Amino acid sequence: MPYKHITVFPDQAVEYLNPMPGKVYVDCTMGGCGHSKRILKLISPGGTFIGIDQDLDAIDNARKGLDYHDCNIHLIHDNFVNLSDILCELHISSVDGILLDLGLSLNQLKNSKRGFSFNIDEPLDMRFNINTKVTAEDVVNKEDKKSLARIFRQFGEERFAVQIANNIVRYRKEKPVLTTKQLVEIVYESVPARIIYKQKIHPATRIFMALRIFVNKELEMLDKFMKNAAGLLNSKGRICVISFHSLEDRIVKHSFKEFAKECVCPPDFPRCICNKKKSYHVLSKKAIRPQKSEIEANPMARSAILRVAEKI
Ligand SMILES: C[S@@+](CC[C@H](N)C(=O)[O-])C[C@H]1O[C@@H](n2cnc3c(N)ncnc32)[C@H](O)[C@@H]1O
Repeated sequence: MPYKHITVFPDQAVEYLNPMPGKVYVDCTMGGCGHSKRILKLISPGGTFIGIDQDLDAIDNARKGLDYHDCNIHLIHDNFVNLSDILCELHISSVDGILLDLGLSLNQLKNSKRGFSFNIDEPLDMRFNINTKVTAEDVVNKEDKKSLARIFRQFGEERFAVQIANNIVRYRKEKPVLTTKQLVEIVYESVPARIIYKQKIHPATRIFMALRIFVNKELEMLDKFMKNAAGLLNSKGRICVISFHSLEDRIVKHSFKEFAKECVCPPDFPRCICNKKKSYHVLSKKAIRPQKSEIEANPMARSAILRVAEKI
């Protein structure tokens, strides 16, 4: 089956990244390779491209689709949180640009058979990387009531988190929750009909998103990555991050802000003792949102936010 994805910020993100021939760029989330292909075109001849994805389907897709004989291409099946080790193994000390396009691809949603979509009846898996241990089925069947409610509230901002958690625990006393269809049925039983009727989104949207974020430790990985990213960039190197969730965006925004600060000593100190140096110049003063025309063509882009910083 052909790999499915519609790239968000296809041109804008790459323009901000500003890839140049002969330089070194990392696409940390290749997915359907929409950004990767654009980057490769611009760094040819002689550039180095490192493409990462923790989903093997994305790596297979990149192997088939990325072909630039006059560039060095490294395709790596790993979590971007390991970028520092990945570069070490490639004997690359620092890079000229890093791109992250977070979340899941349309391919994962529609073709992966891993239960990312509430519209298709599939096993509850939701792992981006099938070599990791914990699946959504484990979470739904093993976490206690309190923990389930916390996951739904914290990562999904779900209003009916407690009711849904209670109903999951009641249901699984009879039989395990193994499929997306079972989970959707439990959500329908937990949310009042008048709310379901009024809501613009499917009542299971937030629950599926929360489980996916928890299973893949998405916020934890992003936070760790952002703490190290500045150290991996060359001077004038850029980092572009596309996020789809307010919690992701908050991590990116705060990290850029922290690294753009000169001194963090208390204001009443007579002189600086922290010796903190400013690492980033933030190029996106405000969150960059997709244009209306992009959202019309690709509704998945509606919640996308792009932020960009440049290493000093
Ligand atoms: C939105 S898609 C990227 C789409 C891509 N930019 C394009 O133009 O086709 C996100 C991809 O990032 C991958 N991903 C998410 N978190 C990751 C992580 N921590 N490490 C590596 N890959 C990750 C997912 O497996 C998915 O393939």
